[in-house]
Amino acid sequence: MFSFESYIPTRVVFGPGKLNELTNIKLPGKKALICITEDQLMRKLGILDRVTALLDKIDIEYFIFDRVTPNPTRKGVMEASVEAKDKGCDFFIGLGGGSSIDTAKAAAIMMKNPGDLWEYASAGTGGGKAVEGAFPVVTITTTAGTGTECDPWCVITNERTNEKLDFGTEAVFPKVSIIDPELMLTLPRTLTLYQGFDALFHAIECYIANCAVELTNLYCLEAVSIVSKWLPVVAKDGGNLEARIQMSYAANVLCGFAQSLSATTSPHIIGQCMSGLYPNLAHGASLIVLAEEYYKKVVGFLPGMFDTLGKAMDESSKQDGTGKCFLDALIGLLNETEMRHLPMSGFGIPKGDIPEIARISKGIGFGFDRYELSIDDIIKILQKSYC
Ligand SMILES: [Fe+2]
Repeated sequence: MFSFESYIPTRVVFGPGKLNELTNIKLPGKKALICITEDQLMRKLGILDRVTALLDKIDIEYFIFDRVTPNPTRKGVMEASVEAKDKGCDFFIGLGGGSSIDTAKAAAIMMKNPGDLWEYASAGTGGGKAVEGAFPVVTITTTAGTGTECDPWCVITNERTNEKLDFGTEAVFPKVSIIDPELMLTLPRTLTLYQGFDALFHAIECYIANCAVELTNLYCLEAVSIVSKWLPVVAKDGGNLEARIQMSYAANVLCGFAQSLSATTSPHIIGQCMSGLYPNLAHGASLIVLAEEYYKKVVGFLPGMFDTLGKAMDESSKQDGTGKCFLDALIGLLNETEMRHLPMSGFGIPKGDIPEIARISKGIGFGFDRYELSIDDIIKILQKSYC
């Protein structure tokens, strides 16, 4: 049946130089809590000063919460919400990458819902309570990876249980997302690649998910095509503005829209499980380390879909009904960007932990997969990936 629902209520302000539009946009409050990461990168790059100067011009009060960690935690979210309540803030600004934005989104939930964030998590040890609204969130993104700027998801780690879970609720669609690729020109190469591959896998997973709809295909296939073309360019020259614009459009906009209509699948569950256990493992890296062996295992389940993805990655590839062209294109992109054989051991993951990673991942559930992977399948994928 050709039917679907679409609801993406975020005002997207996209383009080079668009940060300056902050003064012309109707913001959803008068007093903001600005969430930034503890490494103070937004201060060091001068971006925080630019944002606060613009807010000063339009008489918006603000306070800074600068304790967001990579792989942001439940504890950090609760602290941000306490700070927002103490200061009387009426909206949040997530400034930076996915960690800052997801902290802002999750803290916004806790402004209208009592108790602890984990009571509202719907998987793992979460309490499964319904979320009743959230404070408004504005995002100003400086990375091209998560798509959180345009979707209803935030990903938070429970530092007590090492679970890293997705919270999905319409209440946290950002009210406004300013996506200015000029802010991404100075991103380091490794981070750019981790985030670029994260975007690629969002598009692939949202395309093959069992909840994908016709409209998802437009966003996903276009994003796959753009990332495949422009990620090698931006890897070689991070200062290439056209490449930054294309990557940002694919990752922040197209993948955000795709994630609003569909969902990521088991690679994200497995990757998030690894990052939950080993917080030094960046999210994008967690997906890269398992990608080749994961897709070797699953292309045969959906050969037609992977043939189409292969064609989107490389127009000259031959679709032979097996999905092999996708594997060739993926391995080609990993090689070209020097991301193939990224070692799990380099992030401190012992090989002996693989069965536990597989067990926890499977326990969270692979509800959006079109195929069945057993714990044993995941163990084999991770063991073959291990180096
Ligand atoms: Fe992701």
